[in-house]
Amino acid sequence: MQLDKPKIILDTDPGGDDSFALLWLQSLAKQGLADIVAVTASAGNVNARNTFLGASKLLVAGGFDAVEVGRGVGQPGAEIEDAAHIHGADGMGNLSHTLPEVSQSFETARPSDEVLIEKLNQMPGEITIVAIAPLTNLAAAEQKSPGILKNAKEIVIMGGAFQTWGNVTPEAEFNIAFDPEAANVVLNSRDDLVVIPLDVTHHLIFTPEMARQVSQVNPQNKISQFIVPLCEFMTSTALAYRETKGVSGFLVHDAATLAYLFYPEMLHFQRAKVEIEMQGTWTRGKTLFDRRHSAKQSANAWVALQTRSVDLLAVMVEDLKKLVQD
Ligand code: BDR
Ligand code: CA
Repeated sequence: MQLDKPKIILDTDPGGDDSFALLWLQSLAKQGLADIVAVTASAGNVNARNTFLGASKLLVAGGFDAVEVGRGVGQPGAEIEDAAHIHGADGMGNLSHTLPEVSQSFETARPSDEVLIEKLNQMPGEITIVAIAPLTNLAAAEQKSPGILKNAKEIVIMGGAFQTWGNVTPEAEFNIAFDPEAANVVLNSRDDLVVIPLDVTHHLIFTPEMARQVSQVNPQNKISQFIVPLCEFMTSTALAYRETKGVSGFLVHDAATLAYLFYPEMLHFQRAKVEIEMQGTWTRGKTLFDRRHSAKQSANAWVALQTRSVDLLAVMVEDLKKLVQD
């Protein structure tokens, strides 16, 4: 738990839910509650070029274009297809063209692992990494500079599925299954990781009505005009894939990480040893946790298993309103 103003690096693969998380983070920064140190884009929902572009555009739209965006490293995902069928070819409901042009370029951007290593060396013990993508960048940083992830104040991960089913295979969640080796490196990097899995995020259905409530605060604002059709697009694919059990809306998985940091009363955690199945024919990328008393000594994480979803979504909507108002 942190009481001071968090300095945050967001590792992200926009992504509809990543987009809402990045907008929420910008609102918190605008309110003086967070510092955005950098955004490290990652391949995942769509390719590294598109996630870089999406993150950069959202930062311009929110007025944080001075924030450096790293470009995703590595070539993960050979066995798991990306999630363009959920998030659109550009990762943003095919709406990225409606956002402002960016000045940062993919070609000249620094690799995300380099950004992570530099910032963590410059500010040891101060930076919170919010990891809402496959863990490829974080693992690359750890492998290039062993021990570097221990320099983070805290690492908060959206990933895994423990007492519920997976979303890319019957057992595995996307961020872990996309690059299980990377996830394994990160899970072994320290013993105080914060893990927010599908068990919690399955309950976070953001509805088109919520997007409209935000937008109505200032209908002329570029973000207001972006989030309503983005939410409608995400809702259409969520309904098609039965992700919300027929409820109109989509799952804002990644936003739960910010709820933990800024509204910790919204989540309930258990201490556990988390491991990843690396070999299984049917279960590769599955997250397992050992909560037996005998495993407590080797626990590496706090795992969220319950959430106050209605309240969480309500504070998210209120904060988003503060981003779009002048
Ligand atoms: C995670 O996978 C991605 O598709 C989402 O952006 C989220 O980070 C949910 O499993
Ligand atoms: Ca994501």
